[in-house]
Amino acid sequence: MVGRGRFITFEGIDGAGKSSQIEAAVTHLRRLGHPVVHTREPGGTAIGERLRDLLLHQPMHLETEAMLMFAARREHLETLILPALARGEWVVSDRFTDATYAYQVGGRGLDRCRFEVLERWVHAGFQPDLTLLFDIEPAIAAERLAGAGSAPDRFEREQVDFFARVRKAYLERAGEAGGRIRVIDASAPVAVIRERVMAAVDLR
Ligand code: TYD
Repeated sequence: MVGRGRFITFEGIDGAGKSSQIEAAVTHLRRLGHPVVHTREPGGTAIGERLRDLLLHQPMHLETEAMLMFAARREHLETLILPALARGEWVVSDRFTDATYAYQVGGRGLDRCRFEVLERWVHAGFQPDLTLLFDIEPAIAAERLAGAGSAPDRFEREQVDFFARVRKAYLERAGEAGGRIRVIDASAPVAVIRERVMAAVDLR
């Protein structure tokens, strides 16, 4: 019988530089011999990617945004994450539910109690085995985003104070997560971050 795979998520404010580090982590895990599914939220499924397009570009009520995040997550869990883990594969996701607590509760200011209900509905006690939180000053992240040159989406257009609230919520959640969330200093040199990420994802 194959063992259950591991579920690793990457989090951080926009511009924290997690995307290239996720690529490196996935390559590293595959070199170690693990079958790895690399996915993202919102997204990861046909329905999830259509919801992502709406979420990132279509103005909407903040509660609609929150519920669509969880709708996409339900589909993602049911059709991709849980089946892959059951097959013994590892799943690496660019964001998961910690992002909802950071962006919709911290950033948008929505009531946390509602999210606890949605979280219980959508994934009950299921949580990532490990979450790497890329932590950085919002002002530095904003400079990186400005330098990226691509058109900003609905979230990337938010101001520094929004990202300061998102960051604070992420760090508070890390404090409550009992070791599941590891904070990575995303202002360190890229090679140093890469070493730390590779060491962290090497779960046995
Ligand atoms: P992101 O993961 O940063 O992708 P890219 O690097 O392609 O821009 O974009 C997803 C955005 O969605 C990001 O700004 C955070 C936001 N988001 C939430 O607000 N809540 C959530 O629950 C999730 C998963 C993402």
